Amino acid sequence: MTPRVLTLDLPDEADTAALGARIGRASRRGDVVALMGDLGAGKTTLARGLIRYMTGPDTEAPSPTFTLVQTYASPILAVWHFDLYRLNDSREARELGLDEAVDGLAVIEWPERLGRDLPHARLEVRLSFAGEGRIARLVDLADWSGRIDGDWR
Ligand SMILES: Nc1ncnc2c1ncn2[C@@H]1O[C@H](COP(=O)(O)OP(=O)(O)O)[C@@H](O)[C@H]1O
Ligand SMILES: [Mg+2]
Repeated sequence: MTPRVLTLDLPDEADTAALGARIGRASRRGDVVALMGDLGAGKTTLARGLIRYMTGPDTEAPSPTFTLVQTYASPILAVWHFDLYRLNDSREARELGLDEAVDGLAVIEWPERLGRDLPHARLEVRLSFAGEGRIARLVDLADWSGRIDGDWR
C-alpha cells in the first residue's frame, strides 16, 4: 500500500516551527517522527517548534549536533530529540536511548543513519528548499493521516 502524503508550503521559519507544534499536538506516547532533508532544510527548526509545544515557549532546544540526543521532560509527552548525523552505527543509537524513547516521543534528524533499525511505524517529514522557503511532505507510515487534518493524497 502506498503511504498517504500531505504536502505543505512553509514560506518562512515560523511556518516550520508551527508545523512542529502541529505534529506535537497530534503525537502520542511511543511515536517516531523522522525528519529528513538536506543540511539547512529546517529539521531542527521543526523539532524546536515541537519541543516548545511540549515544554513551553522559552525552551532553548539547541541542535543536538554533538551530543546526538537531547531529552526534554514535559507534562504532555517527553521528547527525545536525536541528530544522528554523526552516528557511527545503530548500536550507538541504542546506547543513546532510542529504545527508552518509546516512553515518550522520538524526533529524529538524519533517521537514514539507523538503516534497518529505523522503526517502520513513523511519520516521515521530508523537508526541501523552495525559493526562500521550504516545502514539507508528510509521509504517513502509521496512522497520522487520521490525526493531522489536511489534504492527504
Ligand atoms: N520555512 C522556512 N523558510 C525559510 N527559512 C527557514 C524555514 N524553515 C527553517 N528555515 C531556516 O533554515 C535555516 C536552517 O534550519 P535548521 O532547522 O537548522 O535546518 P537543519 O536542521 O535541517 O539543518 C535556519 O536559519 C532556519 O531559520
Ligand atoms: Mg539540524
